[in-house]
Amino acid sequence: MRRRLAAGERIVLATHNKGKVREVGALVAPFGIAVVSAGELGLPEPAETETTFIGNAKIKALAAATATGMPALSDDSGFSVGSLDGAPGVYTADWAMQPDGTRDYAAAMRKVMDAAQDFEDRTAWFTCALVLAWPDGHVEGFEGKAMGHWVWPPRGENGFGYDPMFLPDNKPQTFGEMTADQKHRISHRALAFAQLAAACLHRP
Ligand code: IMP
Repeated sequence: MRRRLAAGERIVLATHNKGKVREVGALVAPFGIAVVSAGELGLPEPAETETTFIGNAKIKALAAATATGMPALSDDSGFSVGSLDGAPGVYTADWAMQPDGTRDYAAAMRKVMDAAQDFEDRTAWFTCALVLAWPDGHVEGFEGKAMGHWVWPPRGENGFGYDPMFLPDNKPQTFGEMTADQKHRISHRALAFAQLAAACLHRP
């Protein structure tokens, strides 16, 4: 049985990534749901040990719901390249990891370009899994994909992560060149969220 969030309910955004907090927070805001992030609450980041986006999103949402006693919404997402059989995929954040433990996305984009440049096929896509979990273990999961191509050099300063090297299908601008509103109309996160909203949220 589907479970819905009540209007006015408070949820935890189960992420420490500021770009995701900003984007998921903006998607949830019109539904009158108050959000607090796992980062703000100082919750630990659980290990992402699954091999699918939905699997890792479940781990994060259940950990935050159990720790706080509130419903939790997680985002697990990544960038995939067709000629690399979908890599970096669920390992997208790992490709940005530096020896000192920080993440460098300019270096990560260059790594992807280096791995993919010998192939003619430049197909790429973003995937986003959103999972809503309750403290009793109930979960609802949704996935969205934005299809396009990778470009080099990266273009634009907006968004976050791999946005500057992703040109969505039928658009002249990369995600990094788009405004937040333009990205939200077509992004993997917005597509997953539209399904979640239809199934689990009440229109105010
Ligand atoms: P996660 O925390 O394991 O889900 O990591 C997601 C990775 O994918 C991070 O490296 C993000 O920078 C990247 N990513 C996810 N969504 C987006 C997006 O909308 N734009 C750019 N990069 C993204």
